[in-house]
Amino acid sequence: MLVTHTIAELRAHLRGVTGIAFVPTMGNLHQGHLDLVQIARQHGQFVVVSIFVNPLQFGVNEDYSKYPRTLEQDCKMLEQCGVDMVFAPSERDLYPQPQRVTVELPPVANELCGAFRPGHFRGAATVVLKLFNIVQPRIAVFGKKDYQQLYLMRQMAAQLNLPVEIIGGETVRASDGLALSSRNQYLNLAERAEAVFLYQNLVGIRLAIMDGATNFFKLERQAMEVLSARGWQVDYVTIRSQANLAEPTAYECNLVILAAAWLGKTRLIDNLEVLRDG
Ligand code: PAF
Repeated sequence: MLVTHTIAELRAHLRGVTGIAFVPTMGNLHQGHLDLVQIARQHGQFVVVSIFVNPLQFGVNEDYSKYPRTLEQDCKMLEQCGVDMVFAPSERDLYPQPQRVTVELPPVANELCGAFRPGHFRGAATVVLKLFNIVQPRIAVFGKKDYQQLYLMRQMAAQLNLPVEIIGGETVRASDGLALSSRNQYLNLAERAEAVFLYQNLVGIRLAIMDGATNFFKLERQAMEVLSARGWQVDYVTIRSQANLAEPTAYECNLVILAAAWLGKTRLIDNLEVLRDG
C-alpha cells in the first residue's frame, strides 16, 4: 500500500490507473470506514482512501483541533483491508491559498445539521470536489450514517455532471445499537451507556410508523421531549422523505428518521430508514 502526502506524488502514481474506487475520510478509522473500503473493493480495481481533517467544514467553536488524528494506526488498518493507496495531504497542500471558490449546495444543506452547523456542508462538499478532481475516481463511497451528507454528495455529483458514481454504505453499529463514530470516544462511561438511547428512540419512531402512526409532528416532538428529559440537548429529531429530505407527504413510503443531539460536550447524529406500505 502506498501512502502519498502531496497532490503531485499522488498524481504521479495514479497516471494510467483506471477503475479507481475512492473512500474520503477524516481518519481515526473504525469498522464503519472499513466496511466502506470493502464496498470500494467490490466496485473498483484500485482503492484510494483519503485521510484529511478538513478545517473548512468545522465551525469556529467546533472540535477541529481536538478531532483525533491517528494516521499510523489508520494506515495499518487500511493495509490489512487491501487498500492500494492512502492520500493524507497536509492542509498547505490542499489549501495553498484561502479557499474562496466553494460549492453552493441546494437549500436543504441549510436544514437539519446545516441549520446547526452553518457552512458545514459547503466545506465538506468543497473538499470532496477537490478530492474528486485530484483522485479522479470512477466510484466514491460515503456512509449512510451521515445521511444528509450522502444526499448532498449525490446531488453535487448529479447536478455538476461529475463522472463519479456515489455509493452509500450501511451504518455500522456497536452491539447495543450505537452507530459507530469517531466522536463516540469523546463520551465518558455514563454518557456511552446513555448514548444508545438516541438509536432506541429512532427504533421506537420506526415501530410507531410501521404500526400506522401518521402524525409525524407528534412523534418528533415526543422523541425530543423524552431525550431532553434524559439530559440530552436535542438539535432535531425529524421524519423526512428519503428522496429529497423534504417533509414527507402523508402518502410517502420511503422515509428516513434523522436525529442530532448533544450528550454533554459530544454531538451525536443517527438515522433510520423506514419503508412504509403504500
Ligand atoms: O464524512 C467525512 O468524514 C467528511 O465529511 C468527508 C466526506 C471525508 C469530507 O471531509
